[in-house]
Amino acid sequence: MKDYAFLQRKYVVNSYVNRGLTLVAGDGVHLRDPAGIAYLDLMSNYGANIFGYGHPTLTSRLESQIRTLTTLHGSFANDQRAEAAQRLVGRCGGGLAQAFFSNSGTEANEAALKFAVLATGRKRFIACRNGYHGKTLGALSATDGPKFRSAFEPLLWDFAFIPFNDLEALEAALQAETAAFLVEPIQGEGGIILPDPGYLAKAAELCRSRGALLILDEVQTGLGRTGRFLASQSENLIYDLATLGKGLGGGIPAAATLVTPAIADRIPRSSHTSTFGGNPLAAAGILATLDLLNESLLSHVREMGAYFLERLRSIRSELLVCVRGQGLMIGLEVAAMRDEILKGLQKERVLAIPASDNVVRFLPPFVIEKPHLDEAADKIEKVLSSLPRN
Ligand SMILES: Cc1ncc(COP(=O)(O)O)c(C=O)c1O
Repeated sequence: MKDYAFLQRKYVVNSYVNRGLTLVAGDGVHLRDPAGIAYLDLMSNYGANIFGYGHPTLTSRLESQIRTLTTLHGSFANDQRAEAAQRLVGRCGGGLAQAFFSNSGTEANEAALKFAVLATGRKRFIACRNGYHGKTLGALSATDGPKFRSAFEPLLWDFAFIPFNDLEALEAALQAETAAFLVEPIQGEGGIILPDPGYLAKAAELCRSRGALLILDEVQTGLGRTGRFLASQSENLIYDLATLGKGLGGGIPAAATLVTPAIADRIPRSSHTSTFGGNPLAAAGILATLDLLNESLLSHVREMGAYFLERLRSIRSELLVCVRGQGLMIGLEVAAMRDEILKGLQKERVLAIPASDNVVRFLPPFVIEKPHLDEAADKIEKVLSSLPRN
């Protein structure tokens, strides 16, 4: 058999961490190595494969669309794209009325920043310390952390960084030239940091009072991840802009920037486009996702999330600092040895991902069931107890 790990290291730019594992297939909540050995997936590819692998509804819809039409430029109308946009804005509500489609979370944020400039005529932004919005230059300008930024500074426009959950800091940072405040409803990459109740609604109010827009980055939290269609829907917001990605196409690359009619009116033709944005294949993935993400699946996410949180909170280990999360977006903060824990879990054939410097992050597919979570919790306990305490 070919050594694919070697080939990938040789021919793919090595800008990713190397997990030391080759995976070639997936079914349900498992990924498989070339020998067919199954790994329990508690990360869904950083939150993208929300229905796991080979879901029949998604697969048959995509198969049929591949035979019909895969790509069609946005300058032509298309049944899949038009319906995906209509149904998506309907599900988001909160005054959002149109979608701009792209292919990744970072692109969705790029579009949001440009639309905020077009809508307000201002070019200053506010983002949060410890926040993550992507790695293309605009989104990177809003992303905090020297490991992502320092080689590329100075970055674009003028971004002021404030602590998450700090309304006074937001009030002080809002200026006459502020176009928008960009914020995640729960900081994901930053370590699963939850907002204080009312934070987002108050931030929206503050922004509105200063003529600035609020951009909610729901790339990681959206599409049911927290047990609601959008995490921010807990606060009954009237939205300005929201961005979606990851699970939007059910595992097919798709992202969206949602805007109000007032913002849509200020976006001139040709000011922002993408060759593949909203292509019929991705749009078919979005439609299948919207069909599958019904109230019963959202309630399953809430139930499984609460169950896993409880199981994790019952683990006793000196390494464990705290467990936090919402729905199936869960972080386990540890005092030390985070990477050893991830490696130990991988040895036990459980896949989790890092967040921040000290958090083991779990973003399981929504089709996960209690026996999988029991298996995961037992193995997490086993790995924690096998490591030396310090
Ligand atoms: C909140 C948030 N925004 C944006 C992004 C960037 O998405 P992508 O990697 O698809 O560009 C991510 C990715 O992790 C994210 O978590």
